[in-house]
Amino acid sequence: MKIGVPKEIKNNESRVGMTPAGVYELIKNNHTVYVQKDAGFGSGFFDEDYKEVGAIVLDTIEDVYDAAEMIVKVKEPIAEEYPLIKSHHVVFTYFHFASSEPLTKAMLKSKAVCIAYETVEDEDGSLPLLTPMSEVAGRMAIQQGAKYLEKPIKGRGVLLGGVPGVPPGKVLVLGAGVVGIQAAKMAAGLGAHVTIMDINMKQLRYVNDVMPSHVVTEFSSEYNIRKRIKDHDLIIGGVLLKGAKAPKLISKDMLKEMRPGTVLVDVAVDQGGCIETSKPTTHENPTYIIDDVVHYCVANMPGAVPYTSTLALTNVTLPYVLRLANQGWEVACAKDASLRKGLNIVKGKIVYEEIAEAFNWTVDAM
Ligand SMILES: NC(=O)c1ccc[n+]([C@@H]2O[C@H](COP(=O)([O-])OP(=O)(O)OC[C@H]3O[C@@H](n4cnc5c(N)ncnc54)[C@H](O)[C@@H]3O)[C@@H](O)[C@H]2O)c1
Repeated sequence: MKIGVPKEIKNNESRVGMTPAGVYELIKNNHTVYVQKDAGFGSGFFDEDYKEVGAIVLDTIEDVYDAAEMIVKVKEPIAEEYPLIKSHHVVFTYFHFASSEPLTKAMLKSKAVCIAYETVEDEDGSLPLLTPMSEVAGRMAIQQGAKYLEKPIKGRGVLLGGVPGVPPGKVLVLGAGVVGIQAAKMAAGLGAHVTIMDINMKQLRYVNDVMPSHVVTEFSSEYNIRKRIKDHDLIIGGVLLKGAKAPKLISKDMLKEMRPGTVLVDVAVDQGGCIETSKPTTHENPTYIIDDVVHYCVANMPGAVPYTSTLALTNVTLPYVLRLANQGWEVACAKDASLRKGLNIVKGKIVYEEIAEAFNWTVDAM
């Protein structure tokens, strides 16, 4: 198969869909790989590294889309990329369709096969291609939150770990999934007092078992959230309803209950956000302030640490890329139930129910 690896063009996105190690495996399996010039540069992989393992480096993004049957990338296509995607393409990337009607309509129109990393699902319900990026984002959420708590950038002026004689800062983590657990772990490591909430008791039991005693679990309810936001310095939104928009757990009126300089990091912003006042931001302008509350809502947080993120992502995507290339999408998806769950749009039809639900559309069953 002819596989294309374009350079990401979303703002401040330096990850790349495939490392030279991945290209090596594909070429060993008799495939042809086209890599756009400088595609890996931001992640520390150079054109020479790709050429050395047999990739063909092409000058433009148009060249890559024209040459390839399957596109392997990282972020959802942005408007400039919509016209490049044609009916003969299989596109394997993050899509997050439920949060973008224009993208969904463009991909329906393209008649391409869209396989979304974020909905590939293992038998136990876990999302293997979302996990590593959630791990990165969860850990980063505390790093960023700690920074924006500093006074010069309008935070409360709180040092999360405190110092001897001064109590530590308080961190509220909404969602005890991958993002939430990694965030809680980092915050606890800094010495902060952490409250972590979920509606899934199994997750809360797990957290309670493995975390130190300054990480407290609490059932997630509007009542409990309203109580905690009043005295927590940093609030992390890490909730997920698979393939659907995130539930709004913090409403606009709740901001008035928070202390000035409280920092909200809505990691779930890529699925619409779990805070009513969240809107996606970029690494260039990551924050904005409403009612004296700092909002950090970067939709591609792992993009800021591309070296770590590219390796973490491609470690888990490569086995699927190999299956898709070796067997073709139809056989690969028929044989592999996890990969089949990644099918979101197939040749002009939505095949993943939650996407249609997000827009109140009727789904065409496959
Ligand atoms: N901004 C970024 O750069 C970035 C990067 C990676 C992941 N994400 C996003 O972060 C979010 C979380 O991802 P994850 O991998 O941790 O998901 P996950 O499925 O592992 O965890 C989500 C948790 O939210 C919980 N939850 C659902 N409803 C809740 C509620 N009402 N109250 C409290 N908890 C609730 C679930 O029970 C689950 O434990 C997703 O939206 C994901 O797309 C964003």
